[in-house]
Amino acid sequence: KTFRKQYFLAPDNSAFQDRYGDNGYSGDPKRKPEVSLYLLREGLAASLVCVFILVLWGLVHLSLQQLVIGRPTLSCDLFLTSQSRRHLEQITSVGPRPVGSPENEVLTVGYLIEQIEKIREETAAGPHQITVDVQRPTGTFSIDFLGGFTSFYDRVTNIAVRLEPKSGAQHLILANCHFDTVANSPGASDDAVSCAVMLEVLHSLANLSTPLTHGVIFLFNGAEENILQASHGFITQHQWAKQVRAFINLEAAGVGGKEVVFQTGPENPWLVQAYVHAAKHPFASVVGQEVFQSGIIPSDTDFRIYRDFGNIPGIDLAFIENGFLYHTKYDTADRILTDSIQRAGDNILSVLKYLVTSEKMADTAEYRHGNMVFFDLLGVVAVAYPARVGAILNYMVAAATFIYLAKKASLRGNAGGRYVRDLACATGVTILCWFVTLLSVLIVALLITLLGRSMFWYNHFYACVCLYGAATTGKMVFIHTLAKNLYYGGVRLVELGDLYFDVSLLLWVCGLVWLTQQGLCSAYVPMFMVAFPLVTKLLLAKEFKHRAKYCVLYLLGLALPYVHFMFLIWVVFEIFTPIMGRSGTELPPEVVLATLVTLATIFLSSYFVSSNITIIFNLFLVMFLLVSSGLFFPYSGDPDSPRPKRVFLQHTTRTFHNLQGQVESQDSGLWINSFDYTAIQHITPHIPEINDTVRTECRQDRPFCGYPWFLPVRFLSKKNWYLPASEVLPSSPLEFSLLSKEETSWGTIKMKFSAKGPSHMSLYLMPHHGASLSTWSFGDGTPQYDLSGEYFVFYSHGLDAPAWTFWFEIQVISKNPLGPEGMISVAISAHYFFGKDQRTAPLQEMLNRFPEWTFPSSWVSTYDMYRY
Ligand SMILES: *[C@@H]1O[C@H](CO)[C@@H](O)[C@H](O)[C@H]1NC(C)=O
Ligand SMILES: *[C@@H]1O[C@H](CO)[C@@H](O)[C@H](O)[C@H]1NC(C)=O
Repeated sequence: KTFRKQYFLAPDNSAFQDRYGDNGYSGDPKRKPEVSLYLLREGLAASLVCVFILVLWGLVHLSLQQLVIGRPTLSCDLFLTSQSRRHLEQITSVGPRPVGSPENEVLTVGYLIEQIEKIREETAAGPHQITVDVQRPTGTFSIDFLGGFTSFYDRVTNIAVRLEPKSGAQHLILANCHFDTVANSPGASDDAVSCAVMLEVLHSLANLSTPLTHGVIFLFNGAEENILQASHGFITQHQWAKQVRAFINLEAAGVGGKEVVFQTGPENPWLVQAYVHAAKHPFASVVGQEVFQSGIIPSDTDFRIYRDFGNIPGIDLAFIENGFLYHTKYDTADRILTDSIQRAGDNILSVLKYLVTSEKMADTAEYRHGNMVFFDLLGVVAVAYPARVGAILNYMVAAATFIYLAKKASLRGNAGGRYVRDLACATGVTILCWFVTLLSVLIVALLITLLGRSMFWYNHFYACVCLYGAATTGKMVFIHTLAKNLYYGGVRLVELGDLYFDVSLLLWVCGLVWLTQQGLCSAYVPMFMVAFPLVTKLLLAKEFKHRAKYCVLYLLGLALPYVHFMFLIWVVFEIFTPIMGRSGTELPPEVVLATLVTLATIFLSSYFVSSNITIIFNLFLVMFLLVSSGLFFPYSGDPDSPRPKRVFLQHTTRTFHNLQGQVESQDSGLWINSFDYTAIQHITPHIPEINDTVRTECRQDRPFCGYPWFLPVRFLSKKNWYLPASEVLPSSPLEFSLLSKEETSWGTIKMKFSAKGPSHMSLYLMPHHGASLSTWSFGDGTPQYDLSGEYFVFYSHGLDAPAWTFWFEIQVISKNPLGPEGMISVAISAHYFFGKDQRTAPLQEMLNRFPEWTFPSSWVSTYDMYRY
């Protein structure tokens, strides 16, 4: 029996008998043979693994649906929930609340103040006092969001509510929510529900009969969707800001579900500890924090403002489920389950209660240092330990693994040498297999893209798992089979099973050591993936007699790391799938999803490779044909589970002036921007005029290509369309004027302007060849260009703001005469986000023609360009 040609993935019965005859490398009759899943007959092993994965997946889903664990015991909790829902319905009943609209600045502000006053009166006899301050800050700042983003705000609204013992408080914790929304979305989850919950948390805390130790500021912030303006106004200007020691920020990147702690810090481990100790329904992982802070998610929250401008640590909480609906008309109150509200309320109330009595609040400097590893297990318990302890633990696990492997390598005779050689070879095969597999799956993704079936998984997620998952598994099985036939002809199945177990261990341990070396707390994940299988294997070494029992115990040993890992995979897909619906026309989403599915499959399959290649290949083929035939339409307008395609539709009039100040050209049209890769592919059949004959061309000599971009994302969405339409005539048109132009004594040209217009305006600056911007009136005075290399300033105002005045200085470098563009082109857009100026007849007519599975967010805008 020295040579048996056999598919290692298709073991037969004789393989099982083999291990009684001879036992692997050692040749030592006393050494018990090790058994692994590879020994099982193909069908049995494959179905066992499938059942295992499905059971764990079921557990993950169960835990995600279990919003609240245990029923509320206190009647006040129930009260909190029902009152919060009432507030949520009241706040969203006025509709979209963009900054500057009466809905935001008058109706919602009025409602919130009225409710706060009620709470104040009701609890006046208690030991606390409530002070309300409506702040209307004006300010400016630059952040590196989207490469470089400058903002100016005038009289946006903050409602700051200070709750403290009647004797006053020195130290405050800030709880932040925002009540404004993007245009055309009712913003129930983002972020009215958080404000509704905060009102009732205020109510509960104010009503406590024992006084709090510290104070709490509840900040109802009225300009977050304007890229974080109101929080900047509060933290840099409000007199209470200096007393704030920590904050909790309540946000949303989805609709309903659970609110997850996705970042904390910087440092200040006591905040994580507070959450872990106090939160009744924990949902958190340090992996999320490290992914978010790496910057690959194109999003930001007030967390950043408090951290960077206030130097305050905090906890960032957000609803992440169902991101398909975030910022659309579907973000409505009825989609938020009462249990979602209850768990958010329970968590925030208990964490705040814990913090306001914590002595660490009074002396944050002392407890500032250190990071924490934290995560929850199926939402039942939260675990947290210091990063230092984590590093020690990780290295101990790594050392144990190396000892285990070294012991095998030092077997007597030439067995040790053979083992090392086989291990190296199998590791090589595995890594090669990953690369080849990833490459093959990416080719499939490319084919799907070329066939015009991009995003087929947007509304049929499981189709994506089947197609790319089958491609991945098929390819991996194929390569391993090939390797087995070419190289391992002489190695018996028993050994091969063990060998691949050791390979998985080795690869995970490399990941573990690397992540730990990088100082990343996420290293706890590979630590799990090493420690549990290793311990299981060692404990089970004696259990080989009962094959079935062995297998069940083996799988049980893997259950905990696997369930946690699957849960993280769920979070990744829950976040990244919807993001593909708003990541612009340039990034091919198939590549992202195919890569994610491949990685997930590779990681999940690490401790078992067992499947039937024919079945997998057939599944892949069937899926590929179905996807290619267009069976899976990406979008849906079904009100029960909408998957809207996002489109921006702006009715615009553009006016271009020449260097002499005369109007050079003027046109009007409907400017259409798709948010995703499929662009207008599916829209053209419904609206034939929107086709590529009206695709815009970027005019390089005009700021931002000459179009009224609301956000500086022109590098993300290079494709857009401009359909001729009538002129727009807003009732309060933009008034723009050059106030002064003078040469400074230090040789620059200073230009001062004034603009009076609607609540939202965008300023675009494009210095031409031979000139550059040296300073301006925004941010810290240093002009900051964005990812497309131009200057963009986001302006907004609340009610009754005066004209916006600003200035900049230009340095003319070259002595050559300037071209026909002059030294600088200045363009300004006015965006009418609400009221009767928001819509025109042609816009409304076009809106009505869009299919129900689209969400066209529409408004009127103007674009005026001047050259100097
Ligand atoms: C306030 O306290 C009173 C008396 O303890 C209690 O009856 C009431 O339910 C409390 N209200 C809230 C909102 O907690
Ligand atoms: C494409 O759009 C243009 C302008 O909107 C229109 O005139 C033309 O008929 C369209 N083409 C098709 C094939 O519908």
